[in-house]
Amino acid sequence: MTSSARVLALAAVLLTGCDRFWVCDLAEPERVAELPSRLSETGLYADIASGELADGVLAYTPRFPLWSDGADKQRWILLPDGAQIDTSSIDEWSFPDGTKVWKEFSVDGVRIETRLIEKRGPSDEDWVALSYVWSADDRDAIAAPLGELDARETEHDVPGAGECVACHGGRRSYVLGFSAIQLSSAAAPGDVDLSALAEEGRLTAPPAAVPVVPGTPVEVAALGYLHANCSHCHNPNRPARDGPRCFDPQTSYDFTLAIGDLASPANTATYRTVVGSAVKPGEPGDSRVLSFMSRRGFGRQMPPLATNTVDSEAVANIRAWIEALR
Ligand code: HEC
Ligand code: HEC
Repeated sequence: MTSSARVLALAAVLLTGCDRFWVCDLAEPERVAELPSRLSETGLYADIASGELADGVLAYTPRFPLWSDGADKQRWILLPDGAQIDTSSIDEWSFPDGTKVWKEFSVDGVRIETRLIEKRGPSDEDWVALSYVWSADDRDAIAAPLGELDARETEHDVPGAGECVACHGGRRSYVLGFSAIQLSSAAAPGDVDLSALAEEGRLTAPPAAVPVVPGTPVEVAALGYLHANCSHCHNPNRPARDGPRCFDPQTSYDFTLAIGDLASPANTATYRTVVGSAVKPGEPGDSRVLSFMSRRGFGRQMPPLATNTVDSEAVANIRAWIEALR
């Protein structure tokens, strides 16, 4: 290539920059500023020093968690008194105004950050998201709208408020891990699950039965993993948004485990849209799902953000799943 051709090629790359999939709009600062500046003021704790939760705060654990480089997580939800979750669309719950959900991350026993999403208004666009980073003395966590790299001297990066939408903005329901599929088994004693929510009258349209994910244990784990780690971006019902692509994939893959698709593994969206293309039955070495999951590096890894370490247990299970497919 001549040097002028190289300059032209570079100019072309810069000009087509609007196609870069990793660019997102910044979070609206005035909305983020509506949230308190300290975790102790958000309503999670009755007493932050002892860790006693506030009245009405419920612990839960999604059946299929998001991999975050091995971080330990705890999650809590607060539904406004007496309010119901609109579950008329069973795969995309719509939460009442005032709902708050928290997720705490610890690495090697060190509590690093507690994330909050809060619905401040009636519409599904009214969620405001922010992370709080725990102070060195562990007494409170402080709002971190810009995030923090290598927080608390670990390798864990806290995302900025503008990055939350990359994943949470990809589904109609901004809440990703508190759903019929994700609450279909109570993971720990004391956790709220689907049956408990239905019994307490918290769901406008409770499902007729607790959903059962079909298949062998290897299939169930593969389908659940892909749902939890991939479907918030790879699904056909992404809400339309103006602005840059913001991690919007332009493929037809759909990794969603939808309640209406559970008759057999072959009925699920993953089998219908991925098996045969990015998953080659019996050929893990020729399956793009596995190769993208098995490496890290900007632009070459899946998921494309918020992880620097391969989930080797999940890779082994996805490999076993692909090998067993016929
Ligand atoms: C890489 C994608 C990704 C990014 C980036 C991300 N999240 Fe999440 N988050 C998820 C997924 C998937 C779940 C559900 C699974 C789980 O909890 O393990 C979740 C769960 C949560 C929950 C529990 C409620 C729910 O939706 O299930 C909160 C609170 C939360 N995230 C806050 C945030 C905040 C605040 C940010 C930005 C500072 C953020 N997240 C960035 C993917 C992401
Ligand atoms: C934060 C959003 C996001 C998440 C989460 C995500 N992806 Fe992607 N994925 C994308 C985007 C955006 C592209 C397209 C990249 C490009 O334009 O080059 C993509 C591309 C891909 C491709 C390559 C394209 C092709 O034609 O084969 C594969 C395979 C893939 N993703 C699989 C996965 C798997 C498996 C997971 C979960 C383990 C996952 N993705 C999680 C956003 C995401």
